Amino acid sequence: MTDDSSARIVAGLREWIAQAPPGGRLPSSRSLVAEYGASPVTVQKAMRTLAAQGLIESRPGAGTFVRAVRTARPLDHGWQSAALRSPRSRIPASSATMRGGPGDAIALHAGYPDRELLPQRLLRSALARAARSDAALTRPPAAGLPELQSWFASEVGGSTPVGVTPPAAGDVLVLPGSQSGLSSIFRALVMTGQPLLMESPTYWGAILAAAQAGVQVVPVPSGPEGPDPDELARAFEETGARVFYAQPNFANPTGARWSGAVTHQVLDVIRTYGAFLVEDDWAHDFAIDSDPRPLVALDDTGHVVYLRSLTKSVSPSVRVAAVIARGPAKQRISADLSASSMYVSGLLQAAALDVVTQPGWQTHLRTLRHQLRARRDLLVTSLREHAPQAHITSVPTGGLNLWVGLPDATDLHELVRDCEAAGVLIAPGNEWFPAEPAGPFMRLNYSGPNPGAFPAGAQRIGLALARQV
Ligand SMILES: Cc1ncc(COP(=O)(O)O)c(C=O)c1O
Repeated sequence: MTDDSSARIVAGLREWIAQAPPGGRLPSSRSLVAEYGASPVTVQKAMRTLAAQGLIESRPGAGTFVRAVRTARPLDHGWQSAALRSPRSRIPASSATMRGGPGDAIALHAGYPDRELLPQRLLRSALARAARSDAALTRPPAAGLPELQSWFASEVGGSTPVGVTPPAAGDVLVLPGSQSGLSSIFRALVMTGQPLLMESPTYWGAILAAAQAGVQVVPVPSGPEGPDPDELARAFEETGARVFYAQPNFANPTGARWSGAVTHQVLDVIRTYGAFLVEDDWAHDFAIDSDPRPLVALDDTGHVVYLRSLTKSVSPSVRVAAVIARGPAKQRISADLSASSMYVSGLLQAAALDVVTQPGWQTHLRTLRHQLRARRDLLVTSLREHAPQAHITSVPTGGLNLWVGLPDATDLHELVRDCEAAGVLIAPGNEWFPAEPAGPFMRLNYSGPNPGAFPAGAQRIGLALARQV
């Protein structure tokens, strides 16, 4: 049985049903098996689909019949507007990076790596082991499996210099993906209506989480070396903010990695203003030419609240991440998490821990580095050759994305539509700006499926750009 042949039968029968009178009797299963050359199981599956869609009903012993179509009347949900009133803050629509597209499109828009870049073999055996273990049947501690907490802490401990106390397992809270961590952190550390400083451009999901928390976002411009520490100090001074959200390593979307000097100066500014730095280390496992330098390793005073996710590197289906925080801030975040998600599936935690503690994990990361380098370089070369109007702001030394500047007059909306019509999906850069975009940009992900199509993709983008002039 294949999904394709079942879908074919569904499509065929839907046409048949459209012509049939209500109560009409469908051909027998046997004749459908013969007509479509499919197995009885496949025919049954198609029938179940049509029944679930409300198009047919089966009467035991009598057969399967077309259901009487109820007159379609427009539904009126207007009363809800009165009950709901205006939203506290308007949460932007979900990102273009999350949209699907035709199966044969060249998908450069999405944020998650293709399955060929995942540790598939390690993960499948880890899931099988976890399914056989107690983790499948028991509730894990609210803060996470202790061994997984220790692993997250040890990942930072490895790069903590002498003289700085590394985080302990007890400083770690395991999360169902770092998106929920962002929401909890913003709610816990920034009061509603209070300012939250953010690099600009920055991750659209963080902008979304800030809107959900009802905080006031204050953009701080950031370049390939990170934000200007004086500009950051000015923003703290002017707004009275106490929290700065940033991605010091392989930022999404720009790929920027802060220089050593910027890192130290930003930490000084954070300490001077008695503030928190929320460090989102989403791309820790996607190093290419340089290794990530988590700032949290330099701080034992609780100024840095650190987020690390395994969702993208282990599997998008294993939503496991962690926040490392110390002091009362940790208590506040923990309380928020208890209220919103209570605890993370022990099965997924056990599987994630199994994957990252296998010797094969390090081998996987080494291979991944080469694969990402080859993909990044191919996309860069393809764009330079076929879409010279596109300006790669800087070639990232890690992460999954290229941040591409476009000619000033570019109509982004039209470009995205035009590319899509030509079979290429791109992400418009606007979504990564907390306020007005600084110019037209697009983000291209080089970790998606079918890298062999990058040159063709670049060619079509180049043509779409040429049509803009
Ligand atoms: C910078 C950044 N932070 C957080 C996340 C969310 O990660 P998760 O999938 O673990 O929720 C993403 C996902 O794209 C991201 O790019």
